[in-house]
Amino acid sequence: MGIGGIASTHPTRMHTPSLMATEDHFESCTPTTNPPTDMSVGIELVPGQVQNEEIMEIIERANEGLRVYPPELCEDGVSGCYFLKDAYGNPAGIFKPQDEEPFSLNCPKDQEGELKHGVLAGEAAVREVAAYLLDHRHFAGVPATVMVRCTHSAFHSAEERATNTEHSALKSKVGSFQAFVHHDSKSCDWGASMFPIKEVHKIGVLDIRIFNIDRHSGNLLVNQVDGEFTLTPIDHGYSLPNTLDEAWFEWLNWPQAKAKFDDETKVYIANLNVDDDVHMLQKLNIAPEYVKTLKITTMLLKKGIYADLTLFEMGSMMSRTRIEEPSELEQLCTIANEQVPQDCNYVDSESLFFENLSSLIDDAIKRKCK
Ligand SMILES: Nc1ncnc2c1ncn2[C@@H]1O[C@H](COP(=O)(O)OP(=O)(O)O)[C@@H](O)[C@H]1O
Ligand SMILES: [Mg+2]
Repeated sequence: MGIGGIASTHPTRMHTPSLMATEDHFESCTPTTNPPTDMSVGIELVPGQVQNEEIMEIIERANEGLRVYPPELCEDGVSGCYFLKDAYGNPAGIFKPQDEEPFSLNCPKDQEGELKHGVLAGEAAVREVAAYLLDHRHFAGVPATVMVRCTHSAFHSAEERATNTEHSALKSKVGSFQAFVHHDSKSCDWGASMFPIKEVHKIGVLDIRIFNIDRHSGNLLVNQVDGEFTLTPIDHGYSLPNTLDEAWFEWLNWPQAKAKFDDETKVYIANLNVDDDVHMLQKLNIAPEYVKTLKITTMLLKKGIYADLTLFEMGSMMSRTRIEEPSELEQLCTIANEQVPQDCNYVDSESLFFENLSSLIDDAIKRKCK
């Protein structure tokens, strides 16, 4: 079911072509180049994105590297995820083509089970970019991420595999490209109590905002600097779902989640401007049913922080304790939706939904703070 039970008017599992990250995606911004007509090995920014210096420099390094080193498929993970190297053979960035995402046509990894709820195959790349852009002031430290087109024969093709001609033809693919972050380990390699409270809180705040359904311990890179642990969040393709039933927050039962937020984090959250964030997601052509999730989570986060709730309390409201039982947030959304008159148009029904949800969340928080 969709958020707040609006599935009947907005089918949740229906494919949303506008979300596919083609060049059209960014057409509201200034175009810079057209798709390649003569395919040649290389990587370029998909037109229309804000050109950030850090990532342009990495793209340049990856372009130099591609002349010598083919993209290298990462064995970890569930999607086609390639390390692009620089001219010295060092990893520069990670390219994840849309058509190699889990359950997409050309995914090179064995597919087990089914796609998570509330997202569709081929939609992960734009979510990776969205998570980076939502991470204002690099608060959580999402590595720089943009949408690129990359051309090489090394990429996977189901057709080539079927005809035993793998890696023969040049393939030009669109996907997310993220700065490579050197790391010592992943969070699964350590006891969680090793991580500083602030590091866990920054990840939790991000995950709540984007309603992450894939924050498992392999998606947190770890570094140790002078004995202090730092965490870098990666892999945000499974975020902003249009259903709220699959939150996955590895940190939920970490002790740091029960510690109070510090003032800096509170101010950061208080200053988040949801209207600006919504506008940014709309510019990425992310469909309204996914944008609505960000509006819900931001409302919960702001109210929760104001009431001095902990990460654990907010994360628990968003998580199912038993698989078949809706979370507290799901239940509040359902009630908020039921309170909207049936004959409302979409715009009115959405604003009434949020008015209802606002008082329902207030009441739920009051009950907790008693
Ligand atoms: N920005 C990054 N810096 C360094 N390594 C990365 C980065 N992003 C991904 N990786 C490596 O690639 C692996 C797979 O990437 P991930 O984004 O988790 O893809 P999947 O969706 O397949 O799980 C990660 O487990 C990690 O080892
Ligand atoms: Mg992963």
